[in-house]
Amino acid sequence: MTRIRLPGLIDVHVHLREPGFTHKEDFLSGTQAALAGGIVTVLDMPNTSPPTITPEALLAKARLAAAKAVSDVGLFVGATDTDGYVPCAPRAAGLKVYVNETFGSLRIDSLPTLMRIFRQWPGPGPITVHAEGIALAACLTLTRLYDQRLHVCHVAHAADIRLIAQAKAKGAQVTCEVTPHHLFLTQEDLPRLGPLGDMRPRLGTSADRDALWEHLDIIDCFATDHAPHTLEEKRGESPPPGVPGLETMLPLLLTAAHEGRLTLDGIVERLHHNPARIFGIPLDPETWTEVDLDARYTLGDSPLHTRCGWTPFAGMSVTGRVTRVALRNEIVFQDGVVLAQPGTGRVLFGATEATANPTG
Ligand code: NCD
Ligand code: ZN
Repeated sequence: MTRIRLPGLIDVHVHLREPGFTHKEDFLSGTQAALAGGIVTVLDMPNTSPPTITPEALLAKARLAAAKAVSDVGLFVGATDTDGYVPCAPRAAGLKVYVNETFGSLRIDSLPTLMRIFRQWPGPGPITVHAEGIALAACLTLTRLYDQRLHVCHVAHAADIRLIAQAKAKGAQVTCEVTPHHLFLTQEDLPRLGPLGDMRPRLGTSADRDALWEHLDIIDCFATDHAPHTLEEKRGESPPPGVPGLETMLPLLLTAAHEGRLTLDGIVERLHHNPARIFGIPLDPETWTEVDLDARYTLGDSPLHTRCGWTPFAGMSVTGRVTRVALRNEIVFQDGVVLAQPGTGRVLFGATEATANPTG
């Protein structure tokens, strides 16, 4: 048994579904899943109901998170075709812009609106985009034109990672994340998974997956895009895209490290140092995740903490288990059990503070 400690791990892309979709997940179940997966900080996306696009919605969501979360939580605000999100900027992890279609209503599909968003966003968090293909190329251009920082979500396809590699080579202020499902699954898994393998961006070919592994040096962060939907919804008439991932990401990455496809330092770089730098997340030396590098088991065999209760990785054998997690020197997870009480987690970026004078 080889137990080692990793510093506090950060997942910069999760959907904890509260408010509005708490039958899928909420701040308690979602952050319990985070701790079980060895993650102590999550950045939550704005496609809730109501969407997080006003100071009021951000404050209301922050209060829910402060009362319930067992891990730390930062909140994104969502771009709309009005500038309502701008006053929230200082208290948000970043601005999320949906340029491609996905679950929820926050889609930006006009170039003038996209240009206005890039012109107006005051930071300090980056403009964070779901953009594939042409939409990604447009965002890379606007980043340069308006001197913004761009973070590209869930890069999934060979053409997109190559585009980002080119942009980085030219000195663009761009960073990116890749999900475990795009690193470990492909379209070849779809006959087996059916709707449980459907998400945005869609699973790529094995050539897409291989291109992501070949461009590891271009990938700044691993992020789950944890997007739980119930089994009933996934097996229903019009299944929503999205898959959970918080409890399976670290075991999958540790397995890749065990196989020599990645180093432990490479994991820490992409789940700790880079996310903290890109999003301005404070680090704490007494926050850590202990893993047993030798533990072998099958994903999905023990119950999950996520409310949706399933994983697209069920049946995959892995090497590497989360054994303990400490948050600010308090043991919050041990041997499969979440010990932290609701409210142990902190809400980042001052989002719980009154927003009457948000820039003050
Ligand atoms: C996400 C969701 O369900 O909220 N779905 C997905 O397939 N990734 C939306 C998103 O992140 O785009
Ligand atoms: Zn997402």
